[in-house]
Amino acid sequence: MLPEGALPSTGRMLQFTLPSGHEMRLFATKEIVGTDVGSLNPEPWPDGLKGANTHWLDHVLLMCPLDPENGINTVADNTALLTEVLDFYLTEQIVAGPDGSIQIGAFVSCSTTPHDIAFVGGPEAGLHHVSFFLDSWHDILKAGDIMAKNKVQIDVSPTRHGVTRGETIYFFDPSGNRNETFAGLGYQAGPDRPVTTWTDDEIGRAVFYHTGVLVESFIGVYT
Ligand SMILES: [Fe+2]
Repeated sequence: MLPEGALPSTGRMLQFTLPSGHEMRLFATKEIVGTDVGSLNPEPWPDGLKGANTHWLDHVLLMCPLDPENGINTVADNTALLTEVLDFYLTEQIVAGPDGSIQIGAFVSCSTTPHDIAFVGGPEAGLHHVSFFLDSWHDILKAGDIMAKNKVQIDVSPTRHGVTRGETIYFFDPSGNRNETFAGLGYQAGPDRPVTTWTDDEIGRAVFYHTGVLVESFIGVYT
């Protein structure tokens, strides 16, 4: 247990470690900062917007140790913990191996978006990306323009995911972490919606729907 104030504007927290090794914190309360347009007769958007105009932090993707030959699959272990203990539900998964028995990617939600957290298998634990929500495909394209104007290192230029059907750009921030701008929620998720499964022979389209080709840096680089 961590006391109130251990993080700014945050109440007491329960800290624990996922099977993948990532540190998690559940907070009891969070200070409400509101929005620039307020809550009384609000305008649709505030004046003076700058940059890509992200709305909110949409999701995070964590890389999780995966070594099926030695019985290690922390994608599946994390997913079990979040769905069985924390009331998340599985929306989509990527499977491999005989009869698709090895879960190498899992997308879980505790809301109505296709994923709040995603887990993908890799050689070691890490952060793959954090993702910020934009309104539309046009906003994604404009975000790409803004990144180019500012010489931001883009990892994957605007395209669509098969998984979640989201529209995306991946880019690196100055610290080297990968970020994403994400739009076009493909569907409203719910716990009674059948889980979408992608097989590893279609993993290219699952990740980058248009080309069907996994970008090398996208797989191999994470922090
Ligand atoms: Fe993402």
